[in-house]
Amino acid sequence: MIDKNTSNIQMESIISLCKRRGFVYQGSDIYGGMAGMYDFGPYGVELLNNIKAQWWKENVQTREDYVGLDSAMFKEPKVWDASGHTSGFSDPLSECKVCNTRIRVDKELAKIGITADEKMSEAAINELFDAHKADIKCPKCGKTDWTPVKAFNLLVKTNMGNFTGLDEQPVYLPGEACQGIYLNFKNIVDTTRMKVPFGIAQIGKAFRNEISPRNFLFRCREFEQADTQYFVKPHENKEAYERIKQERMDWYVRMGIKPENLRFKQHDNLVFYASDAWDIEYNFPSYGFDEIEGIHDRTDYDLSQHTKFSGVDLSYKDPYTGEKYIPWVLETSAGLGRMFLTFISDAYTEDKVGDDMRTVLKLSYDLAPIKVAVFPLLKNKPELVAKSREVYEMLKGRLNCEWDDNGNIGKRYRRQDEIGTPYCVVVDFETLEDNMVTVRDRDTTEQKRVSIDELFATIAPTNA
Ligand code: GAP
Repeated sequence: MIDKNTSNIQMESIISLCKRRGFVYQGSDIYGGMAGMYDFGPYGVELLNNIKAQWWKENVQTREDYVGLDSAMFKEPKVWDASGHTSGFSDPLSECKVCNTRIRVDKELAKIGITADEKMSEAAINELFDAHKADIKCPKCGKTDWTPVKAFNLLVKTNMGNFTGLDEQPVYLPGEACQGIYLNFKNIVDTTRMKVPFGIAQIGKAFRNEISPRNFLFRCREFEQADTQYFVKPHENKEAYERIKQERMDWYVRMGIKPENLRFKQHDNLVFYASDAWDIEYNFPSYGFDEIEGIHDRTDYDLSQHTKFSGVDLSYKDPYTGEKYIPWVLETSAGLGRMFLTFISDAYTEDKVGDDMRTVLKLSYDLAPIKVAVFPLLKNKPELVAKSREVYEMLKGRLNCEWDDNGNIGKRYRRQDEIGTPYCVVVDFETLEDNMVTVRDRDTTEQKRVSIDELFATIAPTNA
């Protein structure tokens, strides 16, 4: 019998589970950790890969009008001039003169109800900050003595190819994953049968020199983005934009996120390339509603800029009408780390089984890192172990499957509950007689006897 515990789940509990169960580790942990960097552990990488596989299936494999891409991270430096990142991709920064703590001025102003437009010049934001800085206390020392605001560029520079050590134009790490899609628009039109309107999807890494990485996987300096860019005829953007927004929202719900924890939010301030922008937000424990995915109407900005800076005409010629135009772009861009945090937060449940509290990750079957765990009832009975190994070997390779013979059965169930394993299979003495095993369901904790011959069919994805 399960009692739902209604106590408020805190993000601390989820972070602790992520570390305890090998989902996520602090980057460079043994060297004291590195801010804004995280490593995905054994179960974390399984969950992450499952999210990516489901996203890819949704946005490429089941679509006739989308194709996939995997472009190089390093790009000709002019790409970032064309995209506007070398000049416009910055955060307004100020430093506490007393303790040197840095703040993002726009975020701090927002907290006291003042809006700093993304397109504001450094002088304009300094003027705004001067008028209000007496109301902004340093989060560390509480003083209000601030340096003038400086625009801090978020691109991460590398020394790739700079063999002389001279100050050549740096090669940047990607500030956003989508640029590779624009660079390959012409290649894809020329080499495939895709015709506008069509989309290109890509999962790629992005790097940003965030001033204050925070909230675990939410704001990092290295992260992955799952992007689609949908190319449409100019001004034929509205209907497709609404469809894409809805498709993206529906996907999260189909993947098991509770609808009441999701909402749309339109941007008040548009980034330099967008003419309309909406976020899908998730109601994170402790943090509240915040962005997990951006859906942007980027007009013809990207292909026009790359046409101008590369000298290669990226306009599209309609094969039926002969009409030539620069397509407009509708973008969806979701951080994989934020998706990961969303799925794990929504699945995290504390309930009571009998007299015991348990933590269980109610992940959908498709996302669960391990689909089934096989246990011998006792590990010191060779005949039970041999039979369980037979069952394990039968499932291994067909489903992601784990073997566990350590500790009492109750403890083994709890361990699998905490990593979200939908089914546990126990081989006991009766199995040796009747060739049947006990299958225990993660969510209901109900157990049923199933013949080994029917075991795979019982726990396979189509039956989930
Ligand atoms: N190409 C458009 C673009 O990059 P964005 O709103 O800056 O737009 C898209 O980023 C998504 O990438 C966000 O919705 C978020 O999920 C993720 N993201 C952005 N910055 C991030 C950071 N510092 N750490 C983790 N994820 C981030």
